[in-house]
Amino acid sequence: MSTSPDAQLARFRLSDQYLQLKNNFHRHLIQQIDERNLDIDRWDAEQTDRFVLEQIRRYVVDQRLPINQRESEALARDAKDELMGYGPIQGLIDDDDVNDIVVNGPDRVFVERAGKLSSVPVRFLNNAHVMRVIQRILAPIGRRVDESTPMVDARLPDGSRVNAVIPPIALDGPCVSIRKFRKHPLTSEDLLRYGSISEVELEYLQRRVAERTNLIVVGGTGSGKTTFLNLLSQWIPQDERVVTVEDAAELRFEHGHVVRLETRPPNLEGERAVTARDLVRNALRMRPDRIVVGEVRGDEVLDMLQAMNTGHDGSMTTLHANSARDAIHRLELLAGFAGYTGSEVTFRGQIAAAIQLLVHVSRLKGGERRVMSVVELTGLADGELTMRQLFRYDPDRREHLDLRGSTT
Ligand SMILES: Nc1ncnc2c1ncn2[C@@H]1O[C@H](COP(=O)(O)OP(=O)(O)OP(=O)(O)O)[C@@H](O)[C@H]1O
Ligand SMILES: [Mg+2]
Repeated sequence: MSTSPDAQLARFRLSDQYLQLKNNFHRHLIQQIDERNLDIDRWDAEQTDRFVLEQIRRYVVDQRLPINQRESEALARDAKDELMGYGPIQGLIDDDDVNDIVVNGPDRVFVERAGKLSSVPVRFLNNAHVMRVIQRILAPIGRRVDESTPMVDARLPDGSRVNAVIPPIALDGPCVSIRKFRKHPLTSEDLLRYGSISEVELEYLQRRVAERTNLIVVGGTGSGKTTFLNLLSQWIPQDERVVTVEDAAELRFEHGHVVRLETRPPNLEGERAVTARDLVRNALRMRPDRIVVGEVRGDEVLDMLQAMNTGHDGSMTTLHANSARDAIHRLELLAGFAGYTGSEVTFRGQIAAAIQLLVHVSRLKGGERRVMSVVELTGLADGELTMRQLFRYDPDRREHLDLRGSTT
């Protein structure tokens, strides 16, 4: 067992004793602020630091706390995070190497770094503590979570995405997931360097986007769909007018001629929602050359396909599915839910007419993202969609294969 001062401090900060101490000191600070009527929201970081340090010095003496200098410095840091920021996960938020933060109740915190999810030694005192932090994350953006709305999906001012689910829906305590907004979106160079795609594949897709191919990026949760869609969008020529529709604006365009639309959840009375379908319909009236929909997951599927069929060539979206074939089933399913009443074959005809390319992305076991295949929809035969695989990733050879020359 390691006994270096760092390891000792790390262990101390995870102990029940420390969590309790931190909680007590936090309460003490709040009390001081209340009693002295301090307007800490207006303070800068330095003023806050000074206040917390001064308070801690007194508190340690008054309470005769048996903690050393390093421990009290750690306490000061944590108390400040608790007061001003997101408590125990503030350090993870500040860490640029961390992409995702997942809190599954007070004792189970995970992060994703470089594509790998791992548990981190960060703890909350109890469920109420997790709740406090969730409310603090949501309050500035005018959202809240409580028994009547136990689930929220929101976007922070910096673009990060937050999802929170609390009891009674979440059985093991309040959960929050944060997908941090990358300061610099991944570029094609990054994807090449990571081996996510091959150079010929990239050039091919670049050409297809310029030629105004309608395409869908398909993949599972967190597989890199949005990242890839963002990359593809960069290749839309500057003189084309683009309207984007998203639930939470994640796409980043360096494009001059873009109108971004975002859906709105219903208000507390359950009214005044603006759905993706409303926005796709509205987008069509805005005379766009192309429409880019962040993700198709509901009844907007019909409007999207219609848009692709009616002169908005080069439109793009993403879809949650685990293969190109699966994507077709998923589209059929969504159309069914959306109240599509035509026959299956008619609908497949619409798909064949609307979509030319499917790009399947995936997150491999080790956390790497790969473009698994690029598939062209070639038409309809005997009521079934026909497809041709143009590129495929071979996981055994760890290689992207170009199948365009082959006959199969
Ligand atoms: N090719 C890649 N290489 C490494 N990391 C990537 C790659 N593509 C995406 N990521 C990272 O993976 C995470 C998920 O990416 P992204 O949001 O694009 O996935 P998604 O499929 O849209 O997820 P969701 O299903 O939640 O919408 C992000 O942190 C992103 O930075
Ligand atoms: Mg996404």
